[in-house]
Amino acid sequence: MMRMGGVDDDDKLDAEQAKQVLRRAMRMAAPFKATIAAALGFVALSTLGLLMGPVIVRYGIDSGIDAGDRTVLRNAVFAYVGVVALAYFAARQQYIFVNRAGEGFLRAIRIRVFDHIQKQSLAFFDRYQSGVLISRMTADIESMAELVQWGLLQFIAAVFLIIIALVLMLGLSWQLTIAALLVMPVIIIASRKFQRDSNAAYLEVRERVGQNLAELQEGISGVRVIQAYAQEGEQTRQFVESNRSLYRSHVHSIRVSTWYFGLVEAMGIFASAIAIGIGGWLVERGDVSIGTVVAFILLLALLFEPVQQLSQLYNTVQSSAASLDKLFTILDTRPDVEGGHRELDRHGELVVENVGFRYTNTDASVLRDLTITVADGERLALVGPTGAGKSTVAKLMARLYDPTVGSIAFGGVDLRDATLDSLRHRIVVVPQEGFLFGGSIADNVRIARPDASDAELRDALDAIGALERFDSFEEGIDTEVRERGSRLSAGERQLVSLARAALVDPAVLVLDEATSSLDPGTEAIVEAALDRLMTGRTTIVVAHRLSTIRNADRIAVIDGGELVELGTHDELVGLGGRYGALASAWEASLPTL
Ligand SMILES: Nc1ncnc2c1ncn2[C@@H]1O[C@H](COP(=O)(O)OP(=O)(O)OP(=O)(O)O)[C@@H](O)[C@H]1O
Ligand SMILES: [Mg+2]
Repeated sequence: MMRMGGVDDDDKLDAEQAKQVLRRAMRMAAPFKATIAAALGFVALSTLGLLMGPVIVRYGIDSGIDAGDRTVLRNAVFAYVGVVALAYFAARQQYIFVNRAGEGFLRAIRIRVFDHIQKQSLAFFDRYQSGVLISRMTADIESMAELVQWGLLQFIAAVFLIIIALVLMLGLSWQLTIAALLVMPVIIIASRKFQRDSNAAYLEVRERVGQNLAELQEGISGVRVIQAYAQEGEQTRQFVESNRSLYRSHVHSIRVSTWYFGLVEAMGIFASAIAIGIGGWLVERGDVSIGTVVAFILLLALLFEPVQQLSQLYNTVQSSAASLDKLFTILDTRPDVEGGHRELDRHGELVVENVGFRYTNTDASVLRDLTITVADGERLALVGPTGAGKSTVAKLMARLYDPTVGSIAFGGVDLRDATLDSLRHRIVVVPQEGFLFGGSIADNVRIARPDASDAELRDALDAIGALERFDSFEEGIDTEVRERGSRLSAGERQLVSLARAALVDPAVLVLDEATSSLDPGTEAIVEAALDRLMTGRTTIVVAHRLSTIRNADRIAVIDGGELVELGTHDELVGLGGRYGALASAWEASLPTL
């Protein structure tokens, strides 16, 4: 199965890059300042609450139990309960605020990336496959979510807790602190090793998840083809295989963490043991109180969890920075088709001058030195063998791409100087396969011009002779088309696509005739609709049907990216060249036309 190209590239950034990316993310988070500040306030409060516990215990033991003072003991108990309640309340608030800020940030970035993708020209989509873009919007945003929802909070809470706990411990007894921290070198070395190993394990898991996602996507969207060739078994076998590696990499990453967490846990117990041993000796000597030793051990227990969290966080930050970097790369791509300031007239010649073109993702030039002038109201057919560059010419004429060299102008205005709005209203391209969105037939036609009234919508359908047909459906033009138009026949789908163009009422119509042929009855209906749509407009049609070619005013024969013949049907047949040969082949195979 094909790999989803580019999903897992540069998952690692160097420290400098990561810093820059995170700084930029901070700037983007500026609107959530107030919420973040509130979250931080509650983080501080809940951490303080947590740390107050041992201090109160010490007071209860030394001044209450040891001194035999019931009132003190009772006060200590109440204070302890109060502090626990406070910590609970603050912890709850801190999660609410952190998630509010985090989700807000994610929503903002999701919308920004989506909006940016929508504005890109087709060249952008040649570079990024839809699978890659979808994984940016899902997996990469997901991996950032970990950081913005938990990571930052944990980091701040952990650092805060470690510092205050250490200060308190030093205040209780510097001798005990030094003794307990003897385990620190072991923890530092283990943490470094853990960061390295777990980062590798984490990247591996991510890679496998991406692969699994790609398999899943292809298996579902390609299910018709898969079933047609009875390949379900093979697909499932591949999916089983990909899940096996996913499972293995997960298990491996769990091994890495349990080893480390186990060690840190053991070190924590070891440190407590030291503290108890040395603490007991210090109590015996009368240097410290029992309450101090107990409080110290409770603080020690609080200290080790944040240490573990900090080690884990390293990975989260790494992978989030990598994900952010990828999203920023998309955000930094400027749309290469941008509008100018001139309005296009309703009438004019479409002039293609010395145009050469190369798709950005390939080296070979697809068109070379192409020059054609299409008169106002003329019908021009583009013909030629498959891969000749006909669709490419059509896309250039509607400025879905810009020519690499040369220029295309309508009514004397270079298409690059026209506003995008007037460009999309004057020149409309009807693609080979029109895409249908979820919604009704009416919704799908209206996509071309959302402000159209119901009457205009019906007029557009009527103009191509499709209204009666759709009105005969039980729910008329409000019939749901379902995903990708599975409710409509191939011919009806094309009618919807043509009605979109009719609704815009453009000056120039660029048609890429569907290569798949319809059955004769439907074909006649679509052809009639096309004919009505073309009337009174300049039309450039990439023609595959002989009848369309015959009805054209002139025919341009394109081969290998060059214009090889141009003229009327009779002229070209008289020339006895490439078109002449094609025409006689058609005559021979289709005697009735
Ligand atoms: N998005 C793209 N990226 C890179 N190369 C492309 C892209 N689209 C088309 N090509 C290449 O450009 C050449 C011309 O393609 P084009 O689609 O214009 O051919 P065509 O004449 O319309 O063929 P057909 O009759 O089969 O539709 C082909 O070699 C094709 O492989
Ligand atoms: Mg084509």
